[in-house]
Amino acid sequence: MRITVFTIFPELIEAACRPSILGSAIEKGILSVETVDPREHTTDRHRKVDDIPFGGGAGMVMMPQPLSDALDSALAAEGERKPRVVFLTPGGRPLDQDTVRELANEESIFLVSGRYKGIDDRVVRRYATDEISIGDYVLSGGELPALVVIDAVMRLLPGALGDFASAEEDSIHSGLLEVPLFTRPREFRGDEVPEVLISGHHEKIRRWRRREALKRTLLHRPELLESADLSKEDQQVLRELKRDLDSGGTGE
Ligand code: ADE
Repeated sequence: MRITVFTIFPELIEAACRPSILGSAIEKGILSVETVDPREHTTDRHRKVDDIPFGGGAGMVMMPQPLSDALDSALAAEGERKPRVVFLTPGGRPLDQDTVRELANEESIFLVSGRYKGIDDRVVRRYATDEISIGDYVLSGGELPALVVIDAVMRLLPGALGDFASAEEDSIHSGLLEVPLFTRPREFRGDEVPEVLISGHHEKIRRWRRREALKRTLLHRPELLESADLSKEDQQVLRELKRDLDSGGTGE
């Protein structure tokens, strides 16, 4: 898969793409991450990419011309392929694992990272196939959100993780939150690893993990339970957990 990021800070993207699993996925050729700097498409001596907003207000707006020219030339280079053109903005629809899965099936995606107050809306209207937010908070630009998308998509590309099953097992992937994890030593500062995990009893471990995932989801993100894939056994466990929590218990 190819990802092209439009940003006036290409070094931010490039630096984050070198280390770790992302860096090795790129090295293995599983995905490529290119950057395009709209500043390279300016026509004035000062290489200006922003201007004051019509109608007044604080902050600057990214001018339409440099970014449009950058997008036009990258689109022309795509030939027949029609990449998804994703603008990162706090006003977009919230990123979730379904969207990540959808993007991971594309051959090529463009991620457009705005800076300043935002991007001239005529560019958004002309080019955006998607507008995505990574959460209800405002960052100084779309570069970190673009990296969030890249990382989440990369994890789903076959061969990117040493063990593809580990993406399948990811919490949100299955609709529930992550279970608590433990490694050695068995006792740390007087705190013991849950007995069941060292029992070697696979069925008991599976049940314990499922119950913990249900409990965490019920406590922290109950709305996820509405669309999660729940078995009869899960529903029974949830009823017990709710009863216990309602009567002042901790779900232990
Ligand atoms: N740009 C600035 N803040 C953002 C956010 N929360 N999501 C996506 N893009 C952004």
